[in-house]
Amino acid sequence: MDLNQENSLRGKDYISLTDYKPEEFRYLLDLAVELKARQKKGIPHPLLQGKTLAMIFQKASTRTRVSFEVAMYHLGGLGMFLSSNDLQIGRGEPIQDTARVLASYSEGILIRTFSHQEVISLARHAKVPVINGLTDDEHPTQALADMLTILEAKGKLQGLKLAYFGDGNNVAVSLIHACALCGMEIVLSCPEGYRPPEKALAQGEAMKAPGARITVVQDPKEAAAQADVLYTDVWTSMGQEKESAIRLKALGGYQVNDELLKLAKPDAIVLHCLPAHRGEEITDSVMEGPQSKIFEEAENRMHAHKAILAALL
Ligand code: CP
Ligand code: NVA
Repeated sequence: MDLNQENSLRGKDYISLTDYKPEEFRYLLDLAVELKARQKKGIPHPLLQGKTLAMIFQKASTRTRVSFEVAMYHLGGLGMFLSSNDLQIGRGEPIQDTARVLASYSEGILIRTFSHQEVISLARHAKVPVINGLTDDEHPTQALADMLTILEAKGKLQGLKLAYFGDGNNVAVSLIHACALCGMEIVLSCPEGYRPPEKALAQGEAMKAPGARITVVQDPKEAAAQADVLYTDVWTSMGQEKESAIRLKALGGYQVNDELLKLAKPDAIVLHCLPAHRGEEITDSVMEGPQSKIFEEAENRMHAHKAILAALL
């Protein structure tokens, strides 16, 4: 792959996968594979020399923050961690003004926040690409790393069945989008009241590449049957802490454990975006078991983020 070749994604935002076509998403995946291979071989890849990424965080983060910072460093640029507690946003400066100012110093802006609308508003006022590092609604950078991990484990994506268990949250929504783009079957197993938003399901339907299928079921066993990938996420996301007791009760039957894993294909893999609450949505033994690719998935955040940065910036 020629890394200096012009690509059509230059200048584009990465806010929602609904803005991406299957071939554009595939380009990012191929680029991630290439950049990972170069790093493993010790081949430098300073594609963003002299460029900077402003990284606004209004919620906690381990993986997203560190992997984007390290990715910028490996690409020859600089990632600047900006906690909203320390920015003037925290004292009420409008996002529009912040966007204009940060865009005048940086070639890109990454933001992790609560409101998805706020990210769209930021992008409207920033002249540089804006990357969504997680909102209450979507987590699109995670989904690219997830697809990279599945591709590495299975050698393909199209036609595979991914079963998602638990809360139809931001991670689930971006997985619906990513599976649609990659021609995969996604079966979400969620209790009543925790289904993914109808809007996200409709978006997935509209984005479907050949082979893609999206269904929501209640029974976790039905979802797990013959699955290639089992995926779960926390039952209480950031910002929902007050609901945690109700959620624990409602989602209790959706744990990814050894019993559930036995229903999947014998070579199925298990993914979790992390952080995990061991003993709640996933057991220790599955997380540490031979079918878990959870820590490979976490590493792949960095390789996937490099692809996003190299393509857009
Ligand atoms: N998966 C994920 O986004 O992790 P962090 O919250 O640690 O960034
Ligand atoms: N659904 C989780 C994902 C964390 C990476 C949250 O929003 O807290």
